[in-house]
Amino acid sequence: MRIAINTGGGDAPGLNAAIRSATLSALRRGWEVMGIMNGYGSIYTEHPFKKLTYDSVRGITMMGGTILGSANKANPFEVPVTKKDGSVELEDRSDAVVEEFEKYSIDALVAIGGDGSMHIAHRLSQKGLNVVGVPKTIDNDIWGCDVSLGFDTAVTTATEAIDRIRTTAQSHQRIMIVEVMGRYAGWIALHSGLSASADAILIPEIRFNVDAIAEKVMERQRKGDTYSIIVAAEGAVEEDGHRFVKGKEPGQSEQLGGIGEYLEDVLSEKTGKESRSLVLGHLQRGGTPSTYDRLISLRFGAAAIRALDEKDFNRMIVMQQNSIKRIPLEDVAGKVKNVPLDSDTILTAKEIGICLGNSK
Ligand code: F6P
Repeated sequence: MRIAINTGGGDAPGLNAAIRSATLSALRRGWEVMGIMNGYGSIYTEHPFKKLTYDSVRGITMMGGTILGSANKANPFEVPVTKKDGSVELEDRSDAVVEEFEKYSIDALVAIGGDGSMHIAHRLSQKGLNVVGVPKTIDNDIWGCDVSLGFDTAVTTATEAIDRIRTTAQSHQRIMIVEVMGRYAGWIALHSGLSASADAILIPEIRFNVDAIAEKVMERQRKGDTYSIIVAAEGAVEEDGHRFVKGKEPGQSEQLGGIGEYLEDVLSEKTGKESRSLVLGHLQRGGTPSTYDRLISLRFGAAAIRALDEKDFNRMIVMQQNSIKRIPLEDVAGKVKNVPLDSDTILTAKEIGICLGNSK
C-alpha cells in the first residue's frame, strides 16, 4: 500500500505531530508514505511528492508549522488561471490530481485540513480516491468534531497575550481591544476571553451593539476599574448585520481595517476614554503545540491510518466526548460549527458578568 499525506489551508500547531504519527503508523504496517509538498497546488506545477521515512519525521512532534508546507488557496477544483486578456478564471484541475495519484500508484490519501480541505477531500473521494480526513484548524469550526488540532495552542497563545495587555491597559487606564482569529466562529474569542477575564467578548454568533459595550466600560469606571479589556473575534457582526472585512486578497492594494480598529475609534468617542487595538493575527497559528494538541494530533494521525487499514474510506476522524470516532466526509463538507448559544461557556461568561456584546 502506498499513501499520500496532504496538509491544506492555514497551518496550525500539531500538524507535524499528525504527520509523524500517520507516517510511523503506516511505515510500521509496511506501507510507503508520500508527502504532498505545499498543498494540491504543487501537483500541476512542480514535483509534488516527497517520500516520508522514519528520518523525515524524527523529532517533529513539538515543531509548529508543517514540514510538508501548506497553501491556503490550493483548491484543485478552483484553480485561478489568468487569461490572455488579463482576466482571471477558475478552472477545475482535479483530474490532474487523480492522474498524478494513478501515475505514482497512490492508493489512499490522508487529508489533514479544515472545512475547505474536507470539502475538497470529499469531492476527490467522489472522483474515486480513497480518502480519510483529519480535522485541523485553530478556529475549531469543523462540523462534527468537538475539537480540532491547533485550537488549544491558539487559545493558550491568545490568553497569554491578553494577560500581557491587561497590565498596560491598567497602567494607562485605557480600553484595550484584542482582535483574535476564528473566521466566522467565536471559539478562540470566547475561550481566550473567558480564560483571561475579559470584560467584553464579541463573537460572530451574537450580534453586538457598541452602546452595550460602552455601557460596560462606563459601569466599570463608576466602580473604580479605570480600564477595560475587550476581546473581539475577527468575524464579529454588528447589530445591523455589518461584518468587518479584513485582509488582503490578491491584487488588492489596501489593507482594510478590521473590527479592532473600528471599536478603538467608536468606543473612545462614546466613553471619552483612550483606547488602543491589537490584532493578534498569525501569531495564533505559530509556536510549539501544547501537550493537548500534540496528543490529539498523534491520536488523529494514527486513527487515520487505522481507518485506511480497515478500508473504511471517505471518513473524517473526529473527537467526540473525548473518544476518537469516524464520520462520513460528506456530512462535514460545506458546514461550519459555531458556538452553540446554550453552551456552558456562554452561560458561564454571562453568569460571571462578561458582556457578550449586547445588554442581555
Ligand atoms: O482558518 C484559519 C485562519 O487562521 C483564520 O482564523 C483566518 O481568518 C485565516 O486563517 C487567515 O488566513 P491567511 O493565512 O490567508 O491570512
